[in-house]
Amino acid sequence: HEEFTKVKNIATIELGRYEIETWYFSPFPPEYNDCLRLYFCEFCLTFMKRKEQLQRHMRKCDLKHPPGDEIYRSGTLSMFEIDGKKNKVYGQNLCYLAKLFLDHKTLYYDVDLFLFYVLCECDDRGCHMVGYFSKEKHSEESYNLACILTLPPYQRKGYGKFLIAFSYELSKKEGKVGTPERPLSDLGLLSYRGYWTRVLLDILKKHKGNISIKELSDMTAIKAEDILTTLQGLELIQYRKGQHVICADPKVLDRHLKAAGRGGLDVDVSKLIWTPYK
Ligand code: COA
Ligand code: NA
Repeated sequence: HEEFTKVKNIATIELGRYEIETWYFSPFPPEYNDCLRLYFCEFCLTFMKRKEQLQRHMRKCDLKHPPGDEIYRSGTLSMFEIDGKKNKVYGQNLCYLAKLFLDHKTLYYDVDLFLFYVLCECDDRGCHMVGYFSKEKHSEESYNLACILTLPPYQRKGYGKFLIAFSYELSKKEGKVGTPERPLSDLGLLSYRGYWTRVLLDILKKHKGNISIKELSDMTAIKAEDILTTLQGLELIQYRKGQHVICADPKVLDRHLKAAGRGGLDVDVSKLIWTPYK
C-alpha cells in the first residue's frame, strides 16, 4: 500500500565525480524499483542501473553542460535556463533527481509549465551541476521559485543563497515582487531567513530617514509579507498610532546581521543576460 511503496529505494547515486547518499523517496519508474544505486550522466541527467551503461553513455553523450541557454557567467560559475517544454526529458530527470533530497514537494510531471535554472561550476571538462531552482512560467501567487536544491557535496558553501538571490534578480528584471512556494523545508526556511535578513538589514543600515515596507519591497523584489515577517521575527517592528514603524538602531542591526550568517556568493547582475519569459 501507499506507505510501503514510499519507502526509500535508491540509497546512493553517482553523479559526475560524486557518490551521493540520498535523503528521501523519489518515484522513479517501476523498472528502477529494485535499484539501490543509480548512475546519472552529469550533463543530460539520464539515469542508468549499471556503471557500464553509464560509461557507454558518456562516450556518446555530446553535452558538456545543461541544455538550454547560458544566461549568467561570472568566473567559474554559470547559470543555465532550461525550458521544461523544450527539454522535457531533462526537466523530468532533474525532478526525479531533486526529489531524492526534497521531502514534501510533489513531483511536477508537468515540466512544460516550468523553467529550470541550473547552477554550474565550470572547468575544462565541462559545466558541473551544483544545484538549481525551478520557477513557474506564469504564477498567479507571485511565486518566483518552486523548488530549490544544492546537491549535498556542495551544500553550506553559499550556493543556496546565491540561487535565492538569483531568483530575486530575475523578479527585479520582470518588475515584479516574488516569494518562494510554500511549504518550505527547514533548510529552505533557514536559507531564506538568512537571505532576507541580510538584504533588508544592509539597506536599513545604509538608509537615512524613513523607509516603508513598500519601498523595501520595491528595492528588493521581496514580497511585503516576507519583509514584515522577517522584521517582526527580529523584533524590529513596532506599532505606533496604528502604523508599522521599523526600528533601525545600528547596534541592533549589526547584532542581527552577525547572527544571520555569511552572505553567500554574490550575484553580479552585470553578468546576467536575460529577458523575462513571454
Ligand atoms: N544546518 C544548519 N543550517 C544550515 C544548514 C545545515 N545543514 N544548511 C544550511 N543552513 C542555513 C545556514 O543559515 C546557512 O547560512 P550560513 O552557512 O551562512 O550559516 C543558510 O542556511 C544557507 O546556506 P547556503 O550555503 O547558502 O545554502 P546551501 O547551498 O546549503 O543550500 C538548501 C540550502 C536549502 C538549498 C539546501 O540545504 C538543500 O538543497 N536542501 C535540500 C532541499 C531543500 O530542502 N530545499 C528547500 C525546499 S523548499
Ligand atoms: Na553558507
